[in-house]
Amino acid sequence: MSDIVATKALIVPAAGSGSRLKKETPKPFLELSGTTILEHTVCKFLPLTNLRQILVATSEEFLDRAQAILDEITPPNISAICLTGGNERQHSIYNALKKVGDIDLVMVHDAVRPFVRLEHIRKCCKIAYEDGGAVLGVPVKDTIKRVDDRKVIRETPSRKYLWQTQTPQIFRKELLVKAYEKAFREKFLGTDDASLVERLGVNVRMVQGDRSNFKITYPLDLKLAQLLIEQKN
Ligand code: CTP
Ligand code: MG
Repeated sequence: MSDIVATKALIVPAAGSGSRLKKETPKPFLELSGTTILEHTVCKFLPLTNLRQILVATSEEFLDRAQAILDEITPPNISAICLTGGNERQHSIYNALKKVGDIDLVMVHDAVRPFVRLEHIRKCCKIAYEDGGAVLGVPVKDTIKRVDDRKVIRETPSRKYLWQTQTPQIFRKELLVKAYEKAFREKFLGTDDASLVERLGVNVRMVQGDRSNFKITYPLDLKLAQLLIEQKN
């Protein structure tokens, strides 16, 4: 698939502590085959047409490290900015969003999804540009149950309409800014970007990706990521 000409900014939240992985180093700065996960991830976006800005949110401690990584890999026509994240993913992204310039599309992508495919990013960009917002995901493979506080099963929703959401989550800039401002005003905290845009009453489209775009979250995910990278080399 070819690329749309819209100008693009990439926001990469990388300020988490990785509590579920239980490593001392935050996940984006762990290495796979000698290269940080952050670098593997950002490199997937570099071939996009009209990519103008890359903004990475990290903890204060890792700002310089992140900036050094970006400076090494980004061509001079792309501005690479590192900034301090917040206590929640949503706060980290909001801090970055405030620094996005005059851009058509904003792509939000987790630092810890290094296996995203370029063709899927392009597909999301195209649909977001046409419709306002698009996120990558896969149909759920397990049966999902809704339980109550006592863990009694209350509902088994049909799998037909259930999708597991990934990133990138891509939106027209003005839409995403409006959504983040509304969430901030109303103190709403979501677990992804689309949930904030959905609150505006705007349709966000799901785009089918694949399961290789998993988020490195638990030790087993890191093992799988190491195996996949070694296999490629
Ligand atoms: N993230 C962030 N700011 C936060 C929390 C998370 O920028 N305050 C980023 C993470 O660095 C990661 C992405 O959001 O790239 C997805 O979050 P997740 O996988 O939950 O990472 P962590 O929050 O670091 O891990 P955990 O929830 O296990 O502590
Ligand atoms: Mg987290």
